[in-house]
Amino acid sequence: MSETVRYERRGDIAVITVDNPPVNALSSSVRQGLADSLAQALGDGAVKAMVLIGAGRTYIAGADIREFGKPFTGPGLQQIIADFERSSKPVVVAIHGTALGGGLEVALGCHYRVALPSAQLGLPEVKLGILPGAGGTQRMPRVIGIKAALDMITSGDPIPAAKAKEIGLVDAIIEGDLLEGAIKFAETVAIPGGTTGRRVSERSDKLGGADTAYFAEARKSVAAKARGQIAPVKIVDALEAAATLPFTDGMKKEREIATELMAGTQSKALRHVFFAEREAAKIPDVPADTPTRPVKSVAIIGAGTMGGGIAMNFANIGIPVTLIDSTEEFLERGLKRIKDNYAVTVSRGRLSQPDMDKRVGLIKGALDIDRIKDADLVIEAVFEEMALKKDIFGKIDQFAKPGAVLATNTSGLNINEIAAVTKRPQDVIGLHFFSPANVMRLMEVVRADKTGKDIIATSMQLGKTIRKVPVLARVYEGFIGNAMLRHYGREAHFLLEEGALPQQVDKALTDFGYAMGMFGVHDVAGNDVGYRMRKAAQATRPNDRRYSDIITKLCDMGRLGQKTGKGWYRYEPGSRTPIPDPEVEALIIQESKLKGIERRVITDEEIVKRCVYGPINEGANLLEKGIALRPSDIDTVYVTGYGFPSWRGGPMFYADTVGLANVLADIKRFHEKDGFFWKPAPLLEQLVKEGKTFADYQAAR
Ligand code: 3HC
Ligand code: NAI
Repeated sequence: MSETVRYERRGDIAVITVDNPPVNALSSSVRQGLADSLAQALGDGAVKAMVLIGAGRTYIAGADIREFGKPFTGPGLQQIIADFERSSKPVVVAIHGTALGGGLEVALGCHYRVALPSAQLGLPEVKLGILPGAGGTQRMPRVIGIKAALDMITSGDPIPAAKAKEIGLVDAIIEGDLLEGAIKFAETVAIPGGTTGRRVSERSDKLGGADTAYFAEARKSVAAKARGQIAPVKIVDALEAAATLPFTDGMKKEREIATELMAGTQSKALRHVFFAEREAAKIPDVPADTPTRPVKSVAIIGAGTMGGGIAMNFANIGIPVTLIDSTEEFLERGLKRIKDNYAVTVSRGRLSQPDMDKRVGLIKGALDIDRIKDADLVIEAVFEEMALKKDIFGKIDQFAKPGAVLATNTSGLNINEIAAVTKRPQDVIGLHFFSPANVMRLMEVVRADKTGKDIIATSMQLGKTIRKVPVLARVYEGFIGNAMLRHYGREAHFLLEEGALPQQVDKALTDFGYAMGMFGVHDVAGNDVGYRMRKAAQATRPNDRRYSDIITKLCDMGRLGQKTGKGWYRYEPGSRTPIPDPEVEALIIQESKLKGIERRVITDEEIVKRCVYGPINEGANLLEKGIALRPSDIDTVYVTGYGFPSWRGGPMFYADTVGLANVLADIKRFHEKDGFFWKPAPLLEQLVKEGKTFADYQAAR
């Protein structure tokens, strides 16, 4: 028998248990075990029906992604599913945890599905750049209809058991013990003809209602959302095949598309992103068994944009928060913003009113900093000013209880300096959340020189608990993400002076896959962010490098962005659609003149290279300086925090796909032209010399 699949008899029911920790992925031994168990149950005259269940924390969470791209061994999943479906004895699948991808496809091939109320069901393959390739695109629409299947498979988002029951994907919800409930259920269907009408491939009753025009429209809207990603559009093709072809031909079409997608760069990139996120949790000198400190209560100082958003993350998982600000007015404003944010979620039907009330009730406002005294974690989120932060940390040191984790949300200040004002620098760490902090998944965990390993371990674990993606960085101006962003922003602005317009730069970047271009982002964030600093710095600028002042001038014209109805674009009242504005164009042309730059035609290719290669070059510097641990961490930061298209794998993965020699050649060209910026990173030069990639660099470490 297989090591990962157990077979046992419970009366006349055979119980097949997949036990392949941690998530019961369908590795080759599981596939073999399933095939053997089915044969055994079919061969045993005493068995009338089967229950298929997962051991541990979940039912089967999909194919084994680590086997992708490797030589195939063991029986194929499509065949196993077909065999289960053909079985004369009914198979009941018992679902807990997550039934994902191939796991759900196995369930669709079986005759009945029952689930715990907490179970989630989904076909997330699109997030890996592929489609459900074991019949999911052909069987799912036969169970829930084309439209619901299209939503589920193109989004990749799982649905809860109750919803699955409502749409006919699950036959029964089991309260209490899942296995016992599933066995009882199996006994009710363990009758002659128990599989009659239950073979999904033989059904077509749900396939109507989607004609050629529907698919043409779906293709358009899916493509618009996919922003360059191929798989979602190909999924529409597979669903059209389900609606129009016999099952076996539909399966052929699915296989064809699956093979093509699996071999493509986009799928490789997305698989890289999946594993990169998980790899980021591993820190060589902070082993998994490092002790952590319990975090059961949190205090946040500064109830502004960030403090409020950060507070919501903890309230969302039931951790009480004390939110502190300096005046009644600021505190009330902060608390109101939190309530308004939750209210929007309620109005969209994504949160119930009682749940909102519970969460709001967990956030208590306060005006005195000594109210931090009971908190296990204190997060400072006041203005970005070193003197103020030092003052606050002096007080934190005075009032926080011994053993509390002391964190700053600074975007880039030197955390060693901040830690040095306390008598416990080993307890101080950076927890850099991104705006909006209740939405953005990235959390940079910034380790200062004296930060204790238990504080790092606690922070990384906490990040996961509040459903963020924590990535470790070291102290550096802007840590990982903002350090790289500087190079992106700089070039976007220089390109304007050289001949491009905001709408061209933004279009080239969105065509590349960014959700929004640089100038659209500025208009959302507010062009006045950093205005005072920029203005003050003008007097003391070194004269060895180039600067762009257009953004400062825009602010002086009152063009602060969407909030003032005009920024890099203009906006009609109540609309967020950017409209190019001749006034901005005139300002930009004037600026080129002032600088004596002759405007030229700039290609989209140049825009992308200059906006993307700068961060890559800086990324290589960050690796060499040890600010980032590995190239894949940089990719995770840029994909989860900065809108870099995930299907390009992140900047470092993307550089590998372009070829590091090509990237370096362009960087050298840019450097020659500019003279100051674009100095090639020594690590990049070294990798090119050795004919290596960033992936090779990571593998060798
Ligand atoms: N294959 C291989 N390894 C997997 C895996 C999979 N499908 N899913 C998770 N893992 C690994 C992770 O890499 C991680 O390994 P590590 O501990 O060495 O880093 C470990 O399992 C635990 O994973 P998480 O940290 O993500 O655990 P969580 O509890 O947070 O999440 C989960 C569990 C929701 C199942 C999440 O892991 C997940 O979403 N997994 C991917 C599911 C998926 O995409 N399934 C579809 C696969 S493609 C497919 O089925 C093709 C089919 O159509 C033929
Ligand atoms: P903000 O201006 O919205 O909020 C700061 C809050 O701190 C204000 O409510 C202010 O009244 C309060 N405050 C100031 N001094 C105080 C004191 N002595 N005691 C108590 N409260 C005090 O600023 P924002 O944007 O929330 O930024 C906070 C920190 O987060 C900064 O360090 C910033 O660099 C960082 N950050 C900001 C991001 C953003 O996009 N806004 C992203 C990531 C980090």
